[in-house]
Amino acid sequence: MFLKMSSIKSTTRYVVAIIIVLISTLGNARETEDDLEQTIRTSIVDYINSKTDRFGNHFLIAGFVSLVFHDCVGGCDGCINDIHPQNAPVLRYINEAEAVYINYSPSLSRADFWALAGIVATDMALGYNNGSNVTQLVYRPGRVDCPTSPYTKKFNKFPTNGGHGDFNDMLDFLQRQFNYSDRQVVAIMGAHNLGRMSREHSGFIGPWTPCPDVLDNEYYIYLVQNDWVQVNTVVKTTGHRDIHDRFQWSDRSHVPDAFDHNVEKYLNVDIAIYRNISTTSNGKVEVPLNQTSFSRTKAIVEEFAGNNDIWLKEFISAFQAMIQSGCEQKGLKLSPIEKQYPLELPWSDL
Ligand code: HEM
Repeated sequence: MFLKMSSIKSTTRYVVAIIIVLISTLGNARETEDDLEQTIRTSIVDYINSKTDRFGNHFLIAGFVSLVFHDCVGGCDGCINDIHPQNAPVLRYINEAEAVYINYSPSLSRADFWALAGIVATDMALGYNNGSNVTQLVYRPGRVDCPTSPYTKKFNKFPTNGGHGDFNDMLDFLQRQFNYSDRQVVAIMGAHNLGRMSREHSGFIGPWTPCPDVLDNEYYIYLVQNDWVQVNTVVKTTGHRDIHDRFQWSDRSHVPDAFDHNVEKYLNVDIAIYRNISTTSNGKVEVPLNQTSFSRTKAIVEEFAGNNDIWLKEFISAFQAMIQSGCEQKGLKLSPIEKQYPLELPWSDL
């Protein structure tokens, strides 16, 4: 009996010891993962901070946000079709991201790195947003790169007519891609608070807002307040003969300076979330803006214009859904919050 008791006791001690070792090993592994994530985050912040453009902006903030968006069209897989004209603006950001990714490539997929870079860039941009909470975006690894990453020949459909698109173009595209509600579509378009359009990449010109490194609800405030006029920013001079027309929107007071690369301008897809516009296939509005005709998302735009926190909450949910897009099939574990927006990516439709 005594022997039995002692052998039970020693077995119990042995099992307890194994459990403790297992727990501490798992704990250490988690800690190491967290340390690595933090190290990568810091490297991304340092790299973004080390670069400014000729306007003095930290252009990689907008760059990494736009890169992850383009990657997640068709499912986040670390692959961009480099001959697709609508991906032209983000090709330079692949090279920029590579400068940091190269140091960590054995530890995470390129798609995970681009997602993390998008999160870090968003957090930085939100950090300028009146000190709002900047830690709500969750990074979860698990994305799988396509075999030819970072490039692919797979052709994902972007909105017909790109920046010249209308409300239906933009809404159909974003809802099919990311299963968004109307509110989420309006919220994610607020990413255009960041960065700028450039002649050499898309043919359009100008930033959307005076502070292209800052992410807040200013985009909606301008949408509601400005007296919008459509202008063709391509002047048919000898130097520009090869560029097609580019119809953009400017506040009436800025129309004489609309050709200036630093004057704020919006695209048709931006105006369309607020105003009812009807365009020809080349992007020109058929009739001038009717002051009483609004799109069905008017109330959402006005709500976001009036309350930065309400917009931010919706933006974060939309951004989180975007960077998980197409990943359920690949084993990425979604948190309960992310599961509020189930993803049904119509892979075959793309
Ligand atoms: C769905 C309709 C959309 C259209 C037609 C569109 C179109 C464009 C165009 C034409 C540019 C200018 C590119 C250049 O000249 O370099 C641009 C830039 C940008 N877009 Fe969008 N976009 C759309 C949605 C989005 C979404 C959902 C996001 C969310 C992440 C986003 C984030 C950005 C950012 C951050 C930039 C600035 C990039 C930079 O400064 O280089 N866009 N977009």
